[in-house]
Amino acid sequence: MKKPILVSGIQPTGRLHIGNYLGALKNFVDLQNSGKYDCYFFIADYHSLTENFNPAEKPAQILNLAADFLAAGLDPKKSKIFIQSAVPQSTELAWILETIAPMGELKRMTQFKDKSDAQQENVNVGLFTYPTLMAADILLYDAQFVPVGDDQLQHLELARTLARKFNSHFGRTFFEPKEILTATPRVMSLDDPEKKMSKSRPGGCLFIDDEPEVIKSKIRGAVTDSESVVKYDPKRKAGISNMLEIMSGLSGKSIAEVERGFAGMNYGELKHSLADYVSDYFEKFRKKKATLLKKSAVIKSALRSGSAKAKKSAEKKMADIKKKIGL
Ligand code: AMP
Ligand code: TRP
Repeated sequence: MKKPILVSGIQPTGRLHIGNYLGALKNFVDLQNSGKYDCYFFIADYHSLTENFNPAEKPAQILNLAADFLAAGLDPKKSKIFIQSAVPQSTELAWILETIAPMGELKRMTQFKDKSDAQQENVNVGLFTYPTLMAADILLYDAQFVPVGDDQLQHLELARTLARKFNSHFGRTFFEPKEILTATPRVMSLDDPEKKMSKSRPGGCLFIDDEPEVIKSKIRGAVTDSESVVKYDPKRKAGISNMLEIMSGLSGKSIAEVERGFAGMNYGELKHSLADYVSDYFEKFRKKKATLLKKSAVIKSALRSGSAKAKKSAEKKMADIKKKIGL
C-alpha cells in the first residue's frame, strides 16, 4: 500500500536552535524512522530570501543546514532530502495559488506582521506572499502531513484553505494537509522565557551545535524566577517550565517524571544537570556534523539525488494542475 506523504522544510537562515530541533528536526527523524510515511524534507532557500541576506554566505548556510539534517539522522536512503529552488514547480504553483489566495487572510498572518516590524526597511512582497509559497511546497507533493512548530500553524491553515478552494473551483486536486506537532511545539527563549526562541534573537538561543562550555554558560545564565522550587508552571514560572520542557523533549520522559527527577534541587543544580544532559545529548551530533562538513561532496550528492526525485514527482503533479486550470 502507498504510504501517506509527509513534507516539511526549514529555512537556511542561521544555526538551528533547540526550538527548531524539538519542534521540528527531531520529529522529522522520528517520523522518517517510523517507516509510516513517504518523507520529503527540504531546505527552504527561496523563503530565506525574504530576510536580509548576503549572497556570498548563502551556499555555506545551505550546506550547514544540510549537514544538520544528516547529522541529526535524516537519511537520503529513507527520505527525499532536497533544496526548494531545485524544484522550480514550487514557485510556479505559488503563483497559481496567489491568484486564489484571499488578501485579507494573508494580511492577518502573525509572522508577516512580526517580520515586517522587525525589518521595517525591507518589507518586501515576498514576506507577504511567503505563506502561499509554503502552501505550494506542501500541496505540490500531495502531502497529507506536515511536521512543524506551532508558529507555522496559521500558514498551514492557509494551505488547507487554498487546497479546498482550488478543489472546489477546478476539481479534486489537492489533499488538505494536517500538522504534526511535538510535545514541545514552542520552546521559549533562555534570556526571556515569555518570548519564543527564535533565530532572529540569537541571544536567547541554545544552538544545537554549541560547544559544551557554551551550552553550560548559556543555561547557567537562563532567566528563572525569584522562588527556589522546581515546579512546572508555565504561567508563573516560565523559565523553569521551559527548561523542564527541554529536558522532557530530549529525554522522552513526561514533564511529571522530569519534575520528579529534579525534585529537591535548587535552580543552580537543575541548570547544571540540564546543561550536562544537553551537551551529552548532542555530542554525537556535533562530531558527525563536523565530519560531514569536511566531506561536502557527500552532502551535495545527497541533495542532488533528493532534488532529482522531488522534481520528478513535482513535474507530474504540475502537469495535472495546469490541465485543471486550462493551461
Ligand atoms: P525556521 O527556522 O523558521 O525555518 O523554522 C524551522 C522549524 O522550526 C519550523 O517548523 C518552526 O515551526 C520550528 N520552530 C522554530 N522556532 C521554534 C521554537 N521556538 N519552538 C519550537 N519550534 C520552533
Ligand atoms: N515556513 C517554514 C518555517 O519558517 C519553512 C517552510 C517553508 C515549510 N515551506 C514549508 C515548513 C513547507 C513546512 C512545509 O519554518
